[in-house]
Amino acid sequence: MKHIIFLGPPGSGKGTHAEKASKLLGIPRISTGDMLREHMKGDTPLGREAKGYMEAGQLVPDALVIKMLKERLSTPECANGAIFDGFPRTGPQAEALAEVVPIDAVINLEIADQAIVDRMKGRRVCPKCGFTSHTSWLGRKTDCEKCGSDLVIRSDDQPETVLARLRVYHEQTKPLIAYYKERGLLRSVNSEGDVTDVEERVRKALA
Ligand code: AP5
Repeated sequence: MKHIIFLGPPGSGKGTHAEKASKLLGIPRISTGDMLREHMKGDTPLGREAKGYMEAGQLVPDALVIKMLKERLSTPECANGAIFDGFPRTGPQAEALAEVVPIDAVINLEIADQAIVDRMKGRRVCPKCGFTSHTSWLGRKTDCEKCGSDLVIRSDDQPETVLARLRVYHEQTKPLIAYYKERGLLRSVNSEGDVTDVEERVRKALA
């Protein structure tokens, strides 16, 4: 059984590389961001509560996210482990996770703030299936390679919201680097440069 966390600022490549690691290791990726967006799309009570926080670039309250995560972890799909993408993001979330599963490794994706701002300008996502891509690879293509829907800019990728998300990361999530370092679990990876080079670095960090 394996439980691996992908930690890093918004746009550092957590989703991109957690997805590849999920395929490599044969265990599911759990993205709390994707789960919350699904709730918003379905207009559930949780989605309605999360919407304001997410659109402002703030974190959704711990109690809501922890409950959602624990429910997902208890499904048969997660019996052999999971890759956590974007969870935990606060001390209480890290403590709650440690109570339910043993963590094997934390991949910490490192990237400068300015590189994130530049990278996020080009992110395009599929509103239907969640596929994520980037204008630098898409060229003139504007549709999803998986389901053919038109790709869009994520609602929290407006430059001012990206800056708010970065501030939240530095204040509330960055302290988890020291938390996991103290526990001997941290494996830092340079997430700048070509995506295939980053993929190779992540693969080595997971070995
Ligand atoms: P979430 O969806 O998790 O967003 P995030 O953490 O801000 O991270 P992103 O999805 O923006 O980026 P990423 O690191 O996954 O990068 P990606 O691979 O897409 O969360 C959204 C919101 O939900 C939060 O703000 C919060 O409100 C709420 N939330 C979620 N979890 C929560 C929690 N635990 N507690 C409380 N609230 C929570 O890559 C970015 C772009 O760069 C893509 O276009 C990609 O194609 C491209 N790219 C990737 N690698 C490279 C490369 N090497 N070179 C060039 N481009 C690259």
